[in-house]
Amino acid sequence: KQLTVAIVGATGAVGSKMKEQLIKRNFPIKHIKFLASARSAGKEIEFNGQTYTIEEATPEAFEGVDVALFSAGGSVSAKLAPEAAKRGAVVIDNTSHFRMHPDVPLVVPEVNREALAKHNGIIANPNCSTIQMVAALQPIREKFGLTKVIVSTYQAVSGSGISAIEELREQSAQWEAGKNVEANILPAKSDKRHFPIARNVIPQIDVFTDNGFTYEEMKMINETKKILSMPELSVAATCVRVPVVSGHSESVYIEVEQDASVQDLFEVFKNAPGVVLQDDISNQEYPMPIYVEGEDPVYVGRIRQDLSNKKGFHLWVVSDNLLKGAALNSIQIAEAMLEDNLL
Ligand code: A2P
Repeated sequence: KQLTVAIVGATGAVGSKMKEQLIKRNFPIKHIKFLASARSAGKEIEFNGQTYTIEEATPEAFEGVDVALFSAGGSVSAKLAPEAAKRGAVVIDNTSHFRMHPDVPLVVPEVNREALAKHNGIIANPNCSTIQMVAALQPIREKFGLTKVIVSTYQAVSGSGISAIEELREQSAQWEAGKNVEANILPAKSDKRHFPIARNVIPQIDVFTDNGFTYEEMKMINETKKILSMPELSVAATCVRVPVVSGHSESVYIEVEQDASVQDLFEVFKNAPGVVLQDDISNQEYPMPIYVEGEDPVYVGRIRQDLSNKKGFHLWVVSDNLLKGAALNSIQIAEAMLEDNLL
């Protein structure tokens, strides 16, 4: 079966990775459309050796589209995803807008592929930090149960889009040249104050909610419970932006239900779909973002048993936030739907 595909936000950081993934994974494309804002409409874009013209994302642009991959921000999805679905497209939305809607499946195919069957035209791709964490936690949970998760993230700037990548580059150059370092985007474009990310870490991603956690932290908390179908799971998150271009890292503390050892967890990860164990401290083997950039899997290392709780374990989880955290997971959702006759 050949499909008509639309990428909404085709010029963005995630949109360009979606293009690459469609080609790399040989997705069966009959026709493809590249949609972006009116600013980009009429400009040319390359795909698989051919030149296409970018169109403005409008409701009518979705006529005849089978799969619409959205990554153009929450307000664009809010407005246009229902329009695309109304015209018969299956929307795979990379923004947070629909993720917690009860009738919208929130899916990491290795974890909860079965949720796709209940879709109503819109599927949500989870938050990048959540995807890599649940991909690593699911195989442990299946074997040993899971009662608690405490995560601290070290998140790359590309999660905040192309403009944040540029800002890190510019700030680094300003710093080198001894000029004033200008900050206009991070930690959150819509918030009042902005801080440099070059030579810094910022303990704020997205804006604050009333409970003192940021929206990014609440996304990790709520989405993890939804994807794992564990509303009672104890989850806490601290999300931090670091001056890395791509690749999110996470220090994850978990507590399991059944007795387990570090060796047991090694065994679990040896056969876990989409997860690669990289843990050999005698050779300083552990995952790091510069080495996972451009790679598909979620990497896990530094596995340790807690020193005061034998059901507690510490993990270090790294993945390319633009790939498994975004574009790759979206295409894997489309592939799973195709295989399961949902497209
Ligand atoms: P454009 O390049 O025309 O602004 P990033 O996350 O890297 O910042 O990318 C955001 C993506 O979302 C870009 O492709 C951008 O297109 C697109 N976008 C932004 N605003 C709109 C809009 N109002 N309608 C459609 N696409 C939009």
